[in-house]
Amino acid sequence: MALNQEAATRVADGEKPALPQTTSVSRPSSHAMRPGPAGDIALSTSTSRPTLRSDERRRVWLDAYNAVRRETERRAAPLAPEDQVVQSMPDASPTKWHRAHTTWFFEQFLVTPRLADYRVFDERFAFLFNSYYVAAGPRHARPQRGLITRPTCDEVAAYRAHVDAAVARLLATASAAALDDILPLLELGLNHEQQHQELILTDILHAFAQNPTAPAYDARWTWPVSQRKRDDFVTLAGGVYRIGHAGDGFMYDNEGPAHEVLLQPVRLAANLVTNAEWLEFIADGGYANPTLWLSDGWACVQAEGWTAPGYWRQVDGAWFVMTLGGLRPVDPAAPVCHVSYYEADAFARWAGKHVPSEAEWEVAARTDRLGDAFGLVWQWTRSAYAPYPGYRASADALGEYNGKFMVNQMVLRGSSLATPAGHARATYRNFFYPPHRWQFSGVRLADYGA
Ligand SMILES: [Fe+2]
Repeated sequence: MALNQEAATRVADGEKPALPQTTSVSRPSSHAMRPGPAGDIALSTSTSRPTLRSDERRRVWLDAYNAVRRETERRAAPLAPEDQVVQSMPDASPTKWHRAHTTWFFEQFLVTPRLADYRVFDERFAFLFNSYYVAAGPRHARPQRGLITRPTCDEVAAYRAHVDAAVARLLATASAAALDDILPLLELGLNHEQQHQELILTDILHAFAQNPTAPAYDARWTWPVSQRKRDDFVTLAGGVYRIGHAGDGFMYDNEGPAHEVLLQPVRLAANLVTNAEWLEFIADGGYANPTLWLSDGWACVQAEGWTAPGYWRQVDGAWFVMTLGGLRPVDPAAPVCHVSYYEADAFARWAGKHVPSEAEWEVAARTDRLGDAFGLVWQWTRSAYAPYPGYRASADALGEYNGKFMVNQMVLRGSSLATPAGHARATYRNFFYPPHRWQFSGVRLADYGA
């Protein structure tokens, strides 16, 4: 599941017992998102490296496991039990559910099948905390996750501790040969949990945005520092390029196979669309002009009454926006955030530009000349979320992770301020439905003119 549905990377250096470290891009974070000791962990596929002794592999991966698990708890820590139970819409899940579901993932796919003496914490939890894995059995209805007041937050904490102890035991007792089977699953489980770490923030922000008192998740929260580029555009020559994940390190199956694509000459905006630019769009009647909108997008504008990005509201004639720090004045210099694909497309049309394809985005990102490609807002692309040529989901239950969502959604690239450190990379494919805007989603434009 890319960050999505529940709605969502590597090691490396040869000699050292590489603390998992990523090929991905890290960037300065805002206070709330600043990784604690845990957040700097980047996972690794050192799993396949024969150079590490098995005791080192056990230690490295137990450390990585513990670090990721702590980061989840760190993100949940500012939230009261009352906060952790609420489900503000079907697409958003309660914090408590995220904490339990990520634990179930390890229990279901890693521990239960591989730890001989393991006793399931509570037989009922599989039904409550299975998200969408049909092969793993029946599950509770997603829109009703907010009705699950029991187990309590404390009981979920005990569930997490129970599974943590089992994972530690599994890592300590598995044979060296068994580790080759265990570690890739562990790594997937950790990446999965990191995706839910992002969702913990996006989902609680949505919940808090429904509260007239506009609670702050973290009153000290600020936008991460932008790394804007001085250039206006990154120019790509037309031609054949290679995209997709083909190197070392963790990847989700949807990032491959790597393959060649043909690009037309294009210029990608070096920087993200800002609130200042979006305010011009609003002032020019952008939300009131159907000629700018896709038909489905205009229907959405009408049905939802959109007049501005998500979480924006006017107070005494001035625009404010709900953030992780509570209700704040809209910062003209900050990237526009919480916009849907429909809005991204309408804005691009209004600006005389386009939304880039995901291949264009990836090729440009590899040049390292895109400002804020990572760490502020996910960037919509006009690419439908579809399989790369030759892609096949695996036949087991984990084959449901990504493949079955490959229809009717659009790809977003980059990462956001809520993405855990070490979880992003140039080939990462996030995906959401076109009207969705509760993620930290923004816009980068493309230009095909001379
Ligand atoms: Fe999940």
